[in-house]
Amino acid sequence: MQSLITCTLIIALISTCFGSYDTSCNVIDFGAVGDGKTDDSAAFLKAWESSCGAEGTPTLLIPPNYVFLFSALILKGPCKATTILIKLEGKIVAPTKYSWVDNNNENSLIVITKVDRLTVDGTEGLIDGFGSSWWPCKSCPRPSILIFQYCNNLTVHDFTVSNSPKSHIHVHGCENATFSRINVTAPADSPNTDGIDVTFSKNILIQDSYMQTGDDCIAISGGSSSVNVTGIACGPGHGISIGSLGKRNDTVEGIHVRNCSLTKTKYGARIKTFPVGIGCAKQITFEDITLVETRYPIFIDKNYDSYPSTNEEVEVSGVTFRGFQGTSFDGKAITLDCGESGCYDIVLDQINIVSSLPAKPACCSCNNAHGTVTSTVPNCSCLLS
Ligand SMILES: *[C@@H]1O[C@H](CO)[C@@H](O)[C@H](O)[C@H]1NC(C)=O
Ligand SMILES: *[C@@H]1O[C@H](CO)[C@@H](O)[C@H](O)[C@H]1NC(C)=O
Ligand SMILES: *[C@@H]1O[C@H](CO)[C@@H](O)[C@H](O)[C@H]1NC(C)=O
Ligand SMILES: *[C@@H]1O[C@H](CO)[C@@H](O)[C@H](O)[C@H]1NC(C)=O
Ligand SMILES: *[C@@H]1O[C@H](CO)[C@@H](O)[C@H](O)[C@H]1NC(C)=O
Ligand SMILES: *[C@@H]1O[C@H](CO)[C@@H](O)[C@H](O)[C@H]1NC(C)=O
Ligand SMILES: *[C@@H]1O[C@H](CO)[C@@H](O)[C@H](O)[C@H]1NC(C)=O
Repeated sequence: MQSLITCTLIIALISTCFGSYDTSCNVIDFGAVGDGKTDDSAAFLKAWESSCGAEGTPTLLIPPNYVFLFSALILKGPCKATTILIKLEGKIVAPTKYSWVDNNNENSLIVITKVDRLTVDGTEGLIDGFGSSWWPCKSCPRPSILIFQYCNNLTVHDFTVSNSPKSHIHVHGCENATFSRINVTAPADSPNTDGIDVTFSKNILIQDSYMQTGDDCIAISGGSSSVNVTGIACGPGHGISIGSLGKRNDTVEGIHVRNCSLTKTKYGARIKTFPVGIGCAKQITFEDITLVETRYPIFIDKNYDSYPSTNEEVEVSGVTFRGFQGTSFDGKAITLDCGESGCYDIVLDQINIVSSLPAKPACCSCNNAHGTVTSTVPNCSCLLS
């Protein structure tokens, strides 16, 4: 109550002094301790409610030189504010597995839901998920660190997040979101630590970021369209993936991945679908990709895992791989495994991949892949017309 009054006073003061609606809500003023031990969830929630309820363009400030611990946090909209800025300058740490509180079954340390016109500026800040207490138990229902769900016109920039128990950032049901200069760091052997997962979202741009993870740097799955990915330095990790698709009715279309580097990643540009399932992946382009010792640089995999479903197969068509340069770890430069129903309109153009192991020259293998190939080494004469 005290803190609510404080913020109200600040709002009153600022709007009186400057006649503007600019409000700054510092979590410290709402009782956050920031000693890395006290659970600051309640204070953050109060600061959020004040920001969300303010008119104009409030800022939620998470100040530097503090370490904030949460058990669970859900920041809910819709908000009254025209735009909201979250300025993360301090450090946020997750509790260990043993003191984790199930966040209302949301399965994420921080849930931001139905907040439109939000900007998150993480310059100088950091979120550490302390995943090491979770990783040994691969079958445990591990949480992600941050999920944005149903947030439209979202901007996230200069944001560093590390060591998630599972995926780092999940974007679900969002429209028009931009992620720039995102740094994700987790050990190469940490399980399922995707950098950014995109599901059921459209008009998404992810750019100029560094991702070192134990799984996909970026995974774009069911229900997503118009997603651009550019300027990503990925590795270690499992590259940039479309899928897995087919568990539900999964459609992914209009994906453009450009100007990315994949360094010592397991996969490079990958589309993975379950062998049976519904949905499609179409209008997908990967271009201007630099490879360093990637195990499977170009990989369409229609036999990913096994999942009981219908007798249909996910449709894969209109996939372009253009302008790939560099080395594959061994001979497996291009693998197009298209299952019984095949994949169509695959374009391979201006590709030059050499093996880093001279004894295993780069090669291309196809199963039921149809399309055209030009200026490509290895030559992929197995591609059917
Ligand atoms: C996308 O969101 C940004 C940030 O809120 C906004 O400036 C821009 O106009 C939006 N674009 C579209 C097409 O909605
Ligand atoms: C997103 O931004 C665009 C362009 O400014 C605007 O037309 C649209 O209404 C915004 N959507 C939301 C949910 O704020
Ligand atoms: C992001 O990662 C890159 C490469 O590891 C590093 O050079 C850069 O300083 C990092 N940025 C921040 C804000 O930590
Ligand atoms: C993605 O890139 C295409 C082509 O460069 C552009 O037309 C489109 O607006 C971009 N979309 C987003 C969400 O950045
Ligand atoms: C490619 O991405 C890098 C890293 O973000 C950026 O510095 C460079 O300008 C980009 N090049 C092009 C041609 O977009
Ligand atoms: C799958 O979704 C698409 C697009 O939403 C729809 O057109 C199609 O009918 C759906 N298929 C099935 C089998 O549900
Ligand atoms: C394509 O490469 C294979 C070996 O990878 C080789 O046997 C074949 O002659 C090549 N075809 C052409 C047309 O260069």
